[in-house]
Amino acid sequence: MRHQGAAEARTGDNAAAVDIDARHELADADRNLRSGRAGKQAVSAAGPPQGAIGSPSGGSAATTGASVGAQQHRAAGPPQGAIGSPSGGSAAATAASVGAQQNASAFGYVDGELRVEAVPFAQIAARFGTPCYVYSRAALEGAFRNFDAAFADLPHLVCYAMKANSNLAVLNLLARAGSGFDIVSGGELARALAAGGDPAKIVFSGVGKTAEEMEAALAAGILCFNVESEAELGLLDTVAAKVGKVAPVSFRVNPDVDPRTHPYISTGLKESKFGIAYADAPALYRRASALPHVGVHGIDCHIGSQVTDLSAYIEAAEKMFDLADRIEADGIALAHIDLGGGLGIRYRDEETIDPYEYALAVRRARGARTHRLLFEPGRFLIGHAGVLLTRVLYLKPGETRDFAIVDAAMNDLIRPALYAAWHPVDPVRPRSDPPRRWQLVGPVCESGDFLAQDRDLALVAGDLLAVRAAGAYGFVMSSNYNSRPRACEVIVDGDRVHLVRPRETLADLFARETTLR
Ligand code: LLP
Repeated sequence: MRHQGAAEARTGDNAAAVDIDARHELADADRNLRSGRAGKQAVSAAGPPQGAIGSPSGGSAATTGASVGAQQHRAAGPPQGAIGSPSGGSAAATAASVGAQQNASAFGYVDGELRVEAVPFAQIAARFGTPCYVYSRAALEGAFRNFDAAFADLPHLVCYAMKANSNLAVLNLLARAGSGFDIVSGGELARALAAGGDPAKIVFSGVGKTAEEMEAALAAGILCFNVESEAELGLLDTVAAKVGKVAPVSFRVNPDVDPRTHPYISTGLKESKFGIAYADAPALYRRASALPHVGVHGIDCHIGSQVTDLSAYIEAAEKMFDLADRIEADGIALAHIDLGGGLGIRYRDEETIDPYEYALAVRRARGARTHRLLFEPGRFLIGHAGVLLTRVLYLKPGETRDFAIVDAAMNDLIRPALYAAWHPVDPVRPRSDPPRRWQLVGPVCESGDFLAQDRDLALVAGDLLAVRAAGAYGFVMSSNYNSRPRACEVIVDGDRVHLVRPRETLADLFARETTLR
């Protein structure tokens, strides 16, 4: 059953979109990604070029994962008109580089125009307007299966870090695929439950949990609190006593490993506010096990986000398994070890870690231990499944730089302004004119309001652009800055388009505000 709040609409008015399935086969690599679509026809999409992640680079685990997906799908070769072959110019090269990565295959050019699964972006813009966040169901579910299958032979649970994208429909699809959730607030708890999430698969992270949030999570019956300080442990024991429960806990331990990522998203170093010090862990576990309203369940870490260096993960995993041994040597049994999230994705040309490689490394570090393993991926599951669709409002050639002013801004996607993040930008209908170098900026009154810099594109006012890899930390970090209503969100499923969050209205902007009497 579909998520009930989702307004559904068929887009069968576009005959070309509907019959794309017949004309385009899915590439081999893509079949892995789609292994979650049991009982469903393989979804139509322009397939990826070779080398897409999801065609694991080798090893027996990879083979297992591949065969899981392969059974439900027809044999396929690379389709014509796939990403990398739009009708024109340098945009093709950009798109090709984007295509060579995980989950990008739900997006591709057909007959010179960019589509998501079977639906042309132009059709989405015409129906729902821009800016608009567009997600691919196939890419989302494919990424989940890709990650989950990598650990298929180990007792494990994937807890999607829902801060990456907490739209109810996204959560609901993942819950149906078997995912649990990593939450960081009472708000995320409420969303996870509203979306049909299983409380027994929810872990609660975060350095500042309030008594009210603890109570709500205890009432829901979550799997575990990832406790981040001794003070939090004390409050949790008190709150659990008050409601007559025993709170399941694990400590988030700071393994002091450098994830070699952006400083704002490094969390596992000594100087970070997160977790408890590695050296303090055994004593704190002894303390926790003596508390009447706390039950020790596991141990947890999270070293950072957009991690692309496998050795950082290996170092952290080895430290965590060693620590687990020491805690258990004190007579405290651990049911699970949570290795956090952070698996990076390729935005530009990053060498990313294939989940199968990661699983292999974890398996090695784990040795003969039998704990259930928990993971908290966010970006890896939803990053490539989403696009921010925007329209060029004006072209404004300048003395030194040429500006393309688009209708999405830093309030819609703050990653470029905040982290100097690079997102691929593809034209929805590539032009064959010679490209020009553009600064893609929004209407917000700040010089930091840019979505992309120095992009070579052939543009005309009115053109649609797809800002790619925007599914994670896109909409969720958006704001109403400059009194701009937040964008709408749609999920495409084959040839169907579901509006899963309508665009905010001007009345929404100040509906909760009052003037003084
Ligand atoms: N678990 C914990 C405890 C976390 O703090 C995070 C992310 C995750 C899991 C998921 O990490 P992921 O798999 O998505 O990398 N706004 C930033 C990213 C902030 C990440 C914060 N914590 C960005 O746009 O890059």
